[in-house]
Amino acid sequence: MEDGRHAKRPSEAAVPGSGADALTAFAMPFVWQGAATRVLQGEDQLRLLGDQCQSLGMKRILFLSSPSVAASKAGSAVRDFLGERFAARLASIPPHSGEEIVANGVQLAREAAIDGVVALGGGSVSDTAKAILIVLAEGGDIADHANIFFPPDRYDQKILAKPKLPLLVIPTTASAAEVTPGLGIRARDGHKLVFWDVNVVPRIIILDPEAYRETPAGVLTSTGMNAFAHCVEGLYSRVRNPVSSALALHAARGLSHALPAMIAEPAVDRYRMAVMAGAHLSGHVIANARVGLHHAICHGLGSHGGLGHGEANAIMLPHVMRYNASVAGPELALLAESMGADVRGKPEAQSALAAIDLVVDLQNRIGVATRLRDLGFDRNKIGAIARMTLSDRGAYFNPRPAPPADDIAAIIEAAW
Ligand SMILES: [Fe+2]
Repeated sequence: MEDGRHAKRPSEAAVPGSGADALTAFAMPFVWQGAATRVLQGEDQLRLLGDQCQSLGMKRILFLSSPSVAASKAGSAVRDFLGERFAARLASIPPHSGEEIVANGVQLAREAAIDGVVALGGGSVSDTAKAILIVLAEGGDIADHANIFFPPDRYDQKILAKPKLPLLVIPTTASAAEVTPGLGIRARDGHKLVFWDVNVVPRIIILDPEAYRETPAGVLTSTGMNAFAHCVEGLYSRVRNPVSSALALHAARGLSHALPAMIAEPAVDRYRMAVMAGAHLSGHVIANARVGLHHAICHGLGSHGGLGHGEANAIMLPHVMRYNASVAGPELALLAESMGADVRGKPEAQSALAAIDLVVDLQNRIGVATRLRDLGFDRNKIGAIARMTLSDRGAYFNPRPAPPADDIAAIIEAAW
């Protein structure tokens, strides 16, 4: 009998989804940072908020949200559940929160002598919470702690080792920002400052439909496409690994079913919960595999172009996948398979294109915007955003080296 353990059969490499892909995906060196987070998904979990705060020893809590969430039923419910633990509130957090808001939150936290933070909201609220915790523990201004990417190939990550106050996050969108040690804060000049600190990862995350039942379905679909983009970028990231790839494929599969189901029947909690669970998995993907060129572009489209992070993600993803397809054939073939395509016996390049077609199909089925112009985006900003992209850390983790600014501008232009 032939021993196939050491001999690669010639046909394996040409068959996506075969054992060859599995071997490539598993036999690699990697580091996995496990999260010290308790995740509670389900109805009625929010009602146990007081007990959860107690378990973290939080007695004086700073409560963070956006103005709209503060005025929602979920906002009042959380305020009630906090009871006597409520010490201070910052309810003015906008999308793409900036340095000024972080400074306001730090001042409030110091005046109220808080011992923990509860954040109810989307990515901007989560990131603001993490940024406040960094400044409270490390001192200085938030900008002092930002990581710097020196193109083309050097990434300096600040060591933020001091212990942080505990954070509990209740997401209202599918941003998955609450899962990761990463965060982004808008600098005064419009750049996105990025940070990385495993000590700011929430100790508890509560995924309860009561918190996101009032979130417009359109916000859940665009942030859900951001979550889907985490899966794609994580799958072909330079620092992907077997754990992140497993989560990425399962989450991509789940989101590709959950998003159309939710948009067809937006009031069904079960579908919303499936979107939020898929998004949660996508957060674990990027917590380890990080994000690439697509997110680098979306950061500029958000902080300089004024688009929501989810909106930018929903539009740009297939365009950046096309740029990366030539170096990410095996991973995109696995993605196509996870989304239901039959890729057996097909050339890798063909399966990669099938994955991109399936993403375009998903965009259309859930009705997200597919052109930047449809959101009133100013075309004159494309050049500046392309230049910003080159200094974003995503360009470092992308599987294919980022092209010159003119070529990035052409990718954005194609989405205009
Ligand atoms: Fe994202």
